[in-house]
Amino acid sequence: MFNENIITKFKGIPTPFYYYDLNVLKQTLEKVKEESSKYNFIVHYALKANANNEILDLIRDAGIGADCVSGNEVKKAIECSFHPEHIVFAGVGKNDDEINYALDHNIFCFNCESKEELTVINELAKAKNKIANIALRINPNVNANTHKYITTGLEENKFGINLWELDDVVKQLKELTNLKLIGLHFHIGSQITDMSSFKSLCLKVNEIQKWFISHQVHIENINVGGGLGVDYHDPDTNRIADFEPYFKLFNDFLELIPGQKVHFELGRALVAQCGTLVSRVLYIKKGVNTNFVILDAGMTELMRPALYQAYHKIENLSKASILRSPDSHLLKYDVVGPICESSDCFGKAVDLPETMRGDLVVLRTAGAYGEVMANGYNLRDKVKAVYSE
Ligand code: LLP
Repeated sequence: MFNENIITKFKGIPTPFYYYDLNVLKQTLEKVKEESSKYNFIVHYALKANANNEILDLIRDAGIGADCVSGNEVKKAIECSFHPEHIVFAGVGKNDDEINYALDHNIFCFNCESKEELTVINELAKAKNKIANIALRINPNVNANTHKYITTGLEENKFGINLWELDDVVKQLKELTNLKLIGLHFHIGSQITDMSSFKSLCLKVNEIQKWFISHQVHIENINVGGGLGVDYHDPDTNRIADFEPYFKLFNDFLELIPGQKVHFELGRALVAQCGTLVSRVLYIKKGVNTNFVILDAGMTELMRPALYQAYHKIENLSKASILRSPDSHLLKYDVVGPICESSDCFGKAVDLPETMRGDLVVLRTAGAYGEVMANGYNLRDKVKAVYSE
């Protein structure tokens, strides 16, 4: 249960808003540093998960790099003083302005996703008389066993260069003299909880590495992407993601060439548990087979349930004391938002104490892909952020 004492702190703050517990973030960052440094792994943070300045400042101060997927994310990372040497830039559709901006700021590496993109970056770098560092994002055709919308490493997905194109690409790179190949990049998907998917990725990377060695291509960096999942069902018990077995697995199964560096791009696992969407009950409405709790937050503030049928734990903070009593009686509610779409539903048949207009209801584990994916549909106001410090 979310700490109900926080209600006094929330007094007078108009809902809905995102609440970020920066202590949880700090503890997460400490753990990720502790576990990754055991193996000298380099961690980047995927800005797409949450790009708030307060969050980025703490992440940068922890010595973590930036993984960007748009020119504006690169700009944001630079403005937040991430060192350009710690910035990587991925994405299937980088436009010329975005590439030029990244070239001007001498970022560490472009993760390239197609043969055509290689040609374009080479031309733009040539025009600036620069050599661009690039990594080939390879589609390893490994199943991440997660929701199909957040699976990225299968041949049917738009991401990465396919394995059968590698021969051509290596030949092509010999001609593209304004590119320097410094690494291979992989990312198979997000919210991965089945560690065997990461093991399959390692085995595939080893195979691909052998191919490069046999073609006398030296690879300095291996970037295995992000994807480590978090516990949406029990955020209190599992506040910090399973970094220990995660990094150990890569250390156990990746076969590295001496001196090779391993990079990660974690988003969700760093920020999901520090964020909570706080909302107020507007109305209780009787349906045919259920009662609706109608919140003042909807799919415009937190889109994940509508888009991926994602689960977020829902708690009625105002009725927390009832939950603690041994004979607490729970009712079933469909918890919905105010948006004019039937998909604007946060949960069906959710067990809650008797809920009333004015109660504070929170949606947990909303720090990743929550606020960043908020939108103005129905001309909604931009959702605000409140911080613990
Ligand atoms: N690297 C690349 C190239 C990516 O595409 C992503 C996420 C990451 C790293 C970070 O993955 P993470 O560690 O956060 O799993 N909106 C969806 C998630 C989309 C993830 C897209 N790519 C959601 O709300 O579940």
